Amino acid sequence: MSLDSLNIDPVTTPEDPEHVREIIDRAKRETRIEYEYGGSFFKPRMKGINHLEVGRSKIIASPLTIMIEWLYLQYEHLRDAWDRFSASLWPRHPDIWCDRVDSHLVGRTVFAGNRGDGAPIHHLHLEMWGRTWLGNWRRLSVGRSDKDGYFRLPFDVRQARRIALRRIYFEIHTTTRVYFHEDQPNMHFDIWRRQKVKKSDLIGMEYNLRTLRLDFWRYREDAMTPRAMVNENGDEPEHYSKGRVDALMAQVIPIELTKLKHLEQIDLAPGTLSIPEIQADYPENLTTCIEKYLPGYTRGDDWFGERMMNGMNRGCFQPDPDRPGNWWIRYFGTCWYDCNEIYALPDVAIRFTLRENGLPKPEEIQLTGKLSRFDDDPHQTRIYTPEDEPNWTYAKRVARVTGAFNTEVEEHFSGTHLNAEQFAVACYRNLKLNPVAALLMPHLKEVSLINHAADNTLIGGYIQSASALTQEGLEQRCRDIMGMQDWKGWEPMAPISEAHTCAQAEVMFWDVVGQYVDEFFANREEQIKEHWFEIYTFSEDLVNHSVPVAFTGPGDTPPDGDDWAALAKTRFDYYCQQYCFDPTLARAEMDGTTRAISRITSAESWAEAGPDDWQNLKDACRYAIMVATYLHTWINEHQYDDLGEILYACGGLRFGDKPSGIMAPEDDYDIAPDLVRSTQMLWFTNLLSRTEYGFITRNEENDVNPHFARLLEERRDAFAALGVDVDAIESRTNI
Ligand SMILES: [Fe+2]
Repeated sequence: MSLDSLNIDPVTTPEDPEHVREIIDRAKRETRIEYEYGGSFFKPRMKGINHLEVGRSKIIASPLTIMIEWLYLQYEHLRDAWDRFSASLWPRHPDIWCDRVDSHLVGRTVFAGNRGDGAPIHHLHLEMWGRTWLGNWRRLSVGRSDKDGYFRLPFDVRQARRIALRRIYFEIHTTTRVYFHEDQPNMHFDIWRRQKVKKSDLIGMEYNLRTLRLDFWRYREDAMTPRAMVNENGDEPEHYSKGRVDALMAQVIPIELTKLKHLEQIDLAPGTLSIPEIQADYPENLTTCIEKYLPGYTRGDDWFGERMMNGMNRGCFQPDPDRPGNWWIRYFGTCWYDCNEIYALPDVAIRFTLRENGLPKPEEIQLTGKLSRFDDDPHQTRIYTPEDEPNWTYAKRVARVTGAFNTEVEEHFSGTHLNAEQFAVACYRNLKLNPVAALLMPHLKEVSLINHAADNTLIGGYIQSASALTQEGLEQRCRDIMGMQDWKGWEPMAPISEAHTCAQAEVMFWDVVGQYVDEFFANREEQIKEHWFEIYTFSEDLVNHSVPVAFTGPGDTPPDGDDWAALAKTRFDYYCQQYCFDPTLARAEMDGTTRAISRITSAESWAEAGPDDWQNLKDACRYAIMVATYLHTWINEHQYDDLGEILYACGGLRFGDKPSGIMAPEDDYDIAPDLVRSTQMLWFTNLLSRTEYGFITRNEENDVNPHFARLLEERRDAFAALGVDVDAIESRTNI
């Protein structure tokens, strides 16, 4: 596209602020690409989200395989059609076949565990069915497990033993989704497990199924943070919706093919491919687009300050106690985590003042740690100012890189993905009758599945090969950051100027969620209180599986030495502001450690609840929704803006072999990501930013409360004035 077609006068210097702003705004619109993948019959395709690989995804390209795949799909369609036909032929009527209760089906449901039985599973919906020789269903009993997991389903022995019945089944049902009709939530149940009961054994007063140890939303015992156990196929404890899978596949194929082409070329003739060529093969991103019209602008101080404030990183500004009007942003590098010898990742501290327009002006950058292979002091600090060109330009790039690493590993993966999952597991395990289930589930679904995929592709795949930390180091870091996440006392980022639009938008969204949650609770107060026991167990699961407060648990402490202790204190203090974590709050002690998540209630029933418990529950729900929707969306959708140009920012710069190390220009490809990492990086940022599905206002699956969407709609213009498109805010964390 030419400048003429945009009707923009060429601007080559940033002294023309209005035209610069016009170009930036147009570049934002221009790079919001929604390219289509037509998909003719023999176009390559992919089987599903779990087949995505950072190397070579299992893409189906051969015509024979496509044909076999097509035949299999036809079989699946036929099977689904048969299931629907069968369901209409033999409907499951709700009437219960019982003349006289003279026996009971009894037993107990508990969570399976590695070391003996887990906690009881309460309020599981249970049914007993018989099936006749002609295939008709007869419901024999219905009930649910009690608070201690025990169940006792009454039934009529004569009905159950009728000669017409061929088989008897015991079924466990669970809530699989919530959908809204006329603003009212409806819980959809599906059969989760079904087991046969021997008909001839149904004699006497009761039939005992004994203790059923179920892998129901089971916590992973081997994980360093609260995680759900996901099965080998990646489709349990929950499933992606079909729309989610289709949306991802439609967008991912073109970029997958680009990556495959690069990987083949790197294998066969690496000298024929370069970083600019890789870059050119992917869709234009925000910085490359701006560079087209304003060469050098994205490497200047104005853009640096603007993106540190309102870009993907949305930095946390700490006031300088000694210099009024000065602010610091910090990004932490390798610290004491297990790391490799290939990539540099120093700590970064940037001092800003504010310009007249309220945007930050960088004044100094401090880099602490190894900048080259020849450095050996991890605590050495170098200071650069705008007078120190060209090192100032190099230092800004290093700051962007450590910033991107921090944002991805800490804010994005730990602060939103893992954080949302700890609420998801506790929610699905415990909330069944309480209306709070309908409030939370639409926003917490699918996060366990996408995190499972990220274990292999991101933490155990791309990031550990494209940055300084090993997988072990990354997992420990995620755990430490989870040790700074708590719902209690959380508030959005406070704006420091009129130009701090990202913080203003965050405050506005927080207000919307607050209003939505308040009204939801006011309308369902009685039922929420009636089923308070579920809130108690929800809170207990959250607290009991929460990680210790950062750096305090066994194995979580920094190494010995004053320098490390000082760094740990700097990090802890900074994170307290960044994640709004109040270390002075009284928190639960478990196994000799203080847990990061605050308790919502200590009462098993509403009658015993404390005076703050009602507000605690509302605050925890508001926080969980905020994390899974707005906070995740912000980073996820801006990844391609700020991490979509290889030489502008990446997950790690390589040391190279020169004494200058990473303090070198962008055309020194020895310090840039290698070719494999370059194409993988653009594949990832495209994948993550462009395959979003499940938006609050679009409500594709009727799973979002329309009232929530309306509250957002009412503020559409106000959000737009802050640069936020309400239609782009996701309802859940699923990519
Ligand atoms: Fe994400």
